Amino acid sequence: MSVIMSEGVWLNLFADNQILLFGISAVAIAGFMVKLNFQADKSQKKSKLDPKAAGSKFVSKTGSKTGSANAERPFGHWDPDYTFKTPVPEAYPNWDINKTKPVPYRAFKHHYHVTMGIRNMDWQSWIELDNQWQYYHDLKLKRLGTLGKEIYGISDKALDACWELLFELCNFLPKRYPTLFSYDENTKILEIKATNEIFDLKDTENLNPIVTAGKLIQDDLAVLVENEQGSYSLEAGCVALAGFWRLKDKYQMTLDDLHLSADVPVPDYKQKLGPAMNRFFRRLPVGQPVLRNNYFIQTDNDLAWSFSIGKETDEKVGWYTAAEATDINQLHLRSERQSLRRLPISGAIVFTIRTYFLPITELCKEPYVPRRLLNGMNSWQDNVQEYKGFEKYKKVLLPYLEKMAEEQEANGLVLEEEPQTYPY
Ligand code: HEM
Ligand SMILES: *[C@@H]1O[C@H](CO)[C@@H](O)[C@H](O)[C@H]1NC(C)=O
Repeated sequence: MSVIMSEGVWLNLFADNQILLFGISAVAIAGFMVKLNFQADKSQKKSKLDPKAAGSKFVSKTGSKTGSANAERPFGHWDPDYTFKTPVPEAYPNWDINKTKPVPYRAFKHHYHVTMGIRNMDWQSWIELDNQWQYYHDLKLKRLGTLGKEIYGISDKALDACWELLFELCNFLPKRYPTLFSYDENTKILEIKATNEIFDLKDTENLNPIVTAGKLIQDDLAVLVENEQGSYSLEAGCVALAGFWRLKDKYQMTLDDLHLSADVPVPDYKQKLGPAMNRFFRRLPVGQPVLRNNYFIQTDNDLAWSFSIGKETDEKVGWYTAAEATDINQLHLRSERQSLRRLPISGAIVFTIRTYFLPITELCKEPYVPRRLLNGMNSWQDNVQEYKGFEKYKKVLLPYLEKMAEEQEANGLVLEEEPQTYPY
C-alpha cells in the first residue's frame, strides 16, 4: 500500500469561515407533502425506504430546490417527504481506482476562527472516492473483524434511517463510480466490482445496513435522530477510522454530550458552537446538504487509531497521556471532510466523515502551505491549543514550518499571489 496511508481520524470541526445559507423558506412545502403514516406494516417498509421503488411519486411536485425542513413539526416528529428525490450524479470523469488522487483539501487558514464552518454541498460530491479506496476498504474489513460491535451500532430509532441511507448509496454510487459499483433495481443486488463483494438488499434479516454502507465508501458514518426534546442523538454509525474517538464512548449521546463529554471539551462549544449547531440541525432542509473541513496534527502514522493518545483498549485516552514528538517524520496532517444531509423519508441526519491523512513532510512540499499552517497554528487560542495537543508537537513542528516557509520564499514564492481557495 502506498506510504501515505498511515493514518488516524476525527473532528477538528471548526475549520474556519463560512456562511449559513438556510432560509427557512423551504418550509412552506410541507403543505404539499404526501403524508403517510410511517409506522406502516413491515412488509411495505423496504419499498417505502427505497426511493426508486415508488417511481414517479418521488419526482418533486414542488420544483423546490431545497425540499422540506418540516420546520413547524413537533419535536421528535417527521412527516416523510416523498416529493424530494436526491439528484442523480453524473459519472465522475475518468474515475480510476488506481489513478484518481485524493482531493487535496488543505483546510487551514492564516487565522483560525472557531465557527461551524459550513458551506453548501453540490450533490455530485456527496461521497468522494479515490485511489485509496482499496486501502480504506481493507482496513475497515480488518477492524470490523477484530473490533466488531465496538465500531458499529444501530438503535431501534435508527434502523429505518440506516436502510434509507443504504438505498440512497445504491442510487448514488453506481451512477457516480460506475466502474466500481453496480446495482440492480429489480433484484436489489449491489456489487463492488473491484472485490466481487455482493450485497443482497432484500436480505433484511442478515444484512446490516450501516456496516454495508460503511464498506462501500472511505467515510465513517453517523446517523442522528431527533428526540422529543428537539435534540439530535447519535443513534447509528459505522465508525472505523476515527483516530481520536470511539463510537462506543459516544453512542446515543446528544450533540451536546458528544462535544462536551471528553476531559477536554470542544473549544467554545458551550457558549458559541452548541446553540448554533442545535438550531442548524433542527432546521436542516432535505435539499440543502452542507460540508465542513477541519484539521489536526497527529503524532503517529495510524489512520484508524492515533495510538499516541493511548491504546484503543484503554479506558481513558487523551493528549495528556501522549509523549512529546521528537521527530518531524512522526507528524501527520489529519483532515476531515464532513457532510451533513437530512434523509427525506426518515428525517434522520446523516453525517459522513472522510479523513485525509498525509505526512507533514509531504504536505510541506506544497507552495504556501508551510507559512499558512504556521500562521494558523500560531493563532490558536489556549483552549484550541489544549484541545489539539499543541504542546506535544510544537517544538518539532514550528521550527520545521518556519524553515520550509523561508525556503519557499527564498526561492521566489510571492506571498501576495497565494490563491484564496479555501478549503483547497
Ligand atoms: C455542524 C455540525 C458540527 C459541527 C460544527 C461540529 C463541531 C465540532 C468541533 C469544532 C469539534 C472539535 C474538533 C475540531 O476542532 O474540529 C468537534 C468534535 C467532535 N464532533 Fe462535532 N460537529 C458537528 C457535527 C457532529 C456530528 C453530527 C457528530 C456525530 C458523530 C459529531 C461528533 C464529534 C465528535 C465525536 C468529536 C470529538 C469530541 C471529543 O473530543 O470528545 N460532530 N465537533
Ligand atoms: C488496479 O491495480 C490492481 C493492482 O495492481 C490491478 O489488479 C487492477 O486490475 C487495477 N485496476 C484497474 C481498473 O486498472
